[in-house]
Amino acid sequence: MPVIVFASSKGGAGKSTACVLVGSELARQGLDKNIRVALLDADPNSHSSGWAILDGCPRNIEIMNNLNENNILDAIDLAKKTCPFVLIDLEGVSSNTVTFAISQADLVIIPCQPSQNDAKEAVKTLKMVKNSSRLISKNIPSWILFTRLSAAIVTKTSRSLLSDFKAANVNVFSTSLIDREVFRSIFSFGGTIDKFKNFEKAQVNVNSLVSEIKNILKKGK
Ligand SMILES: Nc1ncnc2c1ncn2[C@@H]1O[C@H](COP(=O)(O)OP(=O)(O)OP(=O)(O)O)[C@@H](O)[C@H]1O
Ligand SMILES: [Mg+2]
Repeated sequence: MPVIVFASSKGGAGKSTACVLVGSELARQGLDKNIRVALLDADPNSHSSGWAILDGCPRNIEIMNNLNENNILDAIDLAKKTCPFVLIDLEGVSSNTVTFAISQADLVIIPCQPSQNDAKEAVKTLKMVKNSSRLISKNIPSWILFTRLSAAIVTKTSRSLLSDFKAANVNVFSTSLIDREVFRSIFSFGGTIDKFKNFEKAQVNVNSLVSEIKNILKKGK
């Protein structure tokens, strides 16, 4: 029943995209055994639940939306009872809803685009998670996920940001989400990436991220 939270103090960092991709892949892997994946959309803009109501959402994904500071903790408890994976897509703000969700996380994933300003926002989010950890006297693992990287080149900026994070002992996923049209298309046309042409590289990219997530959850740090 791990709770995986996608958080960033910045809008547009890639939370909903990462959340839907990871949720879809976990659902695909669990379809035969009817392993259910709860996707809690705690963003009033409803991007993940907007995706889920389009055609092609895996049948073992359970969407919960209209979440706020009054009901998020109850929703998480309920989801944990029925679903082996609970994913939470947050709004790009600092709020009680965000703090409450982070306090329940087994893993916080902080998407970050490869630019200096985005990295500064990611550091703010890391601090937010550290503060929540102090409040509940429990370490909440937090990992930076680089998103929207170029498939063609490793830029000087992304290389430098990665080495800054490593030097500061910040956890960074080895897998980055590449900037791919198919990752945008699912929000326009619904469903999972495998229904689009030339999805294979995107699938490898998402599989690699999900394997890393599962390993982190297994190790619990
Ligand atoms: N890996 C990717 N490849 C292509 N496009 C992407 C990728 N990640 C995000 N995007 C695009 O970037 C924009 C912002 O992404 P997304 O909605 O996932 O961010 P967010 O952090 O959830 O934003 P918000 O804070 O507004 O909810 C969207 O248009 C999305 O399609
Ligand atoms: Mg979003």
